[in-house]
Amino acid sequence: QWNMAGYRDAKIADIRAEVGDGKVICGLSGGVDSAVAAVLIHAAIGDQLTCVFVDHGLMRQGEAEQVVSLFREHYHIPLVHVDAADMFLAGLAGVSDPEQKRKFIGGAFIDVFEAEARKIGGAKFLAQGTLYPDVIESVSFTGGPSVTIKSHHNVGGLPARMNMALVEPLRELFKDEVRRLGVELGLPPAFVGRHPFPGPGLAIRIPGEVTREACDTLRKADAIYLDEIRKAGLYDEIWQAFAVLLPVRTVGVMGDGRTYDKVCGLRAVTSVDGMTADVYPFESAFLSRCATRIVNEVPGINRVVYDYTSKPPGTIEWE
Ligand code: XMP
Repeated sequence: QWNMAGYRDAKIADIRAEVGDGKVICGLSGGVDSAVAAVLIHAAIGDQLTCVFVDHGLMRQGEAEQVVSLFREHYHIPLVHVDAADMFLAGLAGVSDPEQKRKFIGGAFIDVFEAEARKIGGAKFLAQGTLYPDVIESVSFTGGPSVTIKSHHNVGGLPARMNMALVEPLRELFKDEVRRLGVELGLPPAFVGRHPFPGPGLAIRIPGEVTREACDTLRKADAIYLDEIRKAGLYDEIWQAFAVLLPVRTVGVMGDGRTYDKVCGLRAVTSVDGMTADVYPFESAFLSRCATRIVNEVPGINRVVYDYTSKPPGTIEWE
């Protein structure tokens, strides 16, 4: 347990010492961690910081707009909004291996950051909201031999050729500590309480090949699921809830007709730090309501399943 006001002040001093009068680019992902890192670094070095929000086309519904308005309108922190959806989706075409997706996305982020660094006359530093669990999970698995489970996009996904130094002020922290630090820095509680969202975004919630059409379908199902969770007052009890879109088609019947469409998986877990997780025990009426709405409202999905796997042996994300 850190004393967060003291931690904030110590980190501000560290960041100033680390970057001197250099320029820093901070990649915003839409999630809580990178937002907290950005606000902390801005408190330390002000306009030496440029935030870059890379819209990779793998965001959830409404996410890009929320991040841009929070930073520009609420914080008045300069923000470059890069629309890179075409580049990311083109690079993901034909890729279905989970680690290859992660490696491509990690590398593509760096390409965008390096291009932006050149535009502002050379930034020597890249800031990221890497947390302690990201570091651990990318290098080994608790108790086992040293095996990579997943290359978190901001750790094992980074290419060796990158020529900026990393600034990672949250590297010692767990999620609950980052949330407390965010509150200390004045971020709105509703933003700080958002569920985690992984940097590779919807790409790791679509097993198999990622297409624009699959992303659009998944965004609709995910928005319905989260809408139902919010309406039931369950959002804050859950660590993370999301939909996945499976590359499997099954037969169904709607009205008088046969359907042959994709399967949507629903996931919800409780957790303290994301390292282990339990399945959230929804009432069956709640899950039925979600299934009915998703099948009725989302073209291309005709079946909904609930993922009943804890972590371990499952992981939270499906890839
Ligand atoms: P897993 O799926 O490994 O996820 O059980 C644990 C937590 O980490 C998040 N996650 C990521 N976050 N970049 C991130 O910023 C990533 O590449 C990444 N992969 C997984 C996941 O959403 C969960 O909260």
